[in-house]
Amino acid sequence: MDLGLSGKSVVVTGGASNIGRAITLAFAKEHAAITIGDIDLPQAETVAQEALKLGASNVHVVKCDVTDLKEVKNLFSEAVRINQTVDVLVNNVGWDDLKFFTQTDPAFWNKVIQVNFVGVLNCTHTALAIMIPNSKGSIVSISSDASRQGEPREAVYGGMKAGINSFMKTIAKENGRYGIRCNVVCPGVTIPHENQVGEKSMWSDVESMFTQEQLGKITKALPLKKIGRPEDIANSVLFLAADKVAGHVTGQVLSVSGGYSMIG
Ligand SMILES: NC(=O)c1ccc[n+]([C@@H]2O[C@H](COP(=O)([O-])OP(=O)(O)OC[C@H]3O[C@@H](n4cnc5c(N)ncnc54)[C@H](O)[C@@H]3O)[C@@H](O)[C@H]2O)c1
Repeated sequence: MDLGLSGKSVVVTGGASNIGRAITLAFAKEHAAITIGDIDLPQAETVAQEALKLGASNVHVVKCDVTDLKEVKNLFSEAVRINQTVDVLVNNVGWDDLKFFTQTDPAFWNKVIQVNFVGVLNCTHTALAIMIPNSKGSIVSISSDASRQGEPREAVYGGMKAGINSFMKTIAKENGRYGIRCNVVCPGVTIPHENQVGEKSMWSDVESMFTQEQLGKITKALPLKKIGRPEDIANSVLFLAADKVAGHVTGQVLSVSGGYSMIG
């Protein structure tokens, strides 16, 4: 099905690894014009080449730390310089190191807050300044089922992701009048295929995130009895980004997690 995304200018933050990589490649198959903002240039360049082969209208990589508003402004300026506008923003960057709250300190909290929440504020604020005059746009933010369930070892991260869910609903209400839709996807555990992450990915050492035994237990506990793959998340992002199929959907939080969260 043609989703009407061909030639659309799409900014994907953290588009170099795992879920962000799959999102970039999914838009590439729809022939979008993609700008990847990431701190991992070599891995982002590798993904850009893959995206071009899959049919992206064009792909550009901009080195950007989403916690730095100046770098974020440069990312969007580049997207506009190359593709005239920004139609879609995917706030995908996120980071955590799994630890009980009692094992963490303010420096750790601050990093989690900056990367997971302030990064979304920086990118959304900058994108809206482009989208509002256009009277159109779609923003999809990647949150987490940790925001809906409460997850041991993800206290501050889960709090920030819950902040994203609420923030995006308000942004949806404030900007619907400009034809801008804002939605959220909450992945559950989503592991990369081999060689699909760079060295700055949380998954550069999978075992440091979850042991095989833990992954086995998670699989058994999920209603669908399988761990998520990055394509599962990318497909839902495509749907929410595309006016053609989700043109009347805004302010929604969608879990894509094998049934881990079931929110009415
Ligand atoms: N994988 C999962 O199990 C899972 C589960 C729930 C939610 N999520 C969320 O999905 C999103 C993607 O997760 P992932 O597993 O693909 O992560 P990942 O660590 O594999 O990839 C993150 C990407 O973001 C980049 N990045 C990190 N910090 C950055 C910064 N400050 N500025 C710009 N780029 C930066 C990295 O270089 C990497 O390319 C995140 O928001 C994450 O919180 C993931």
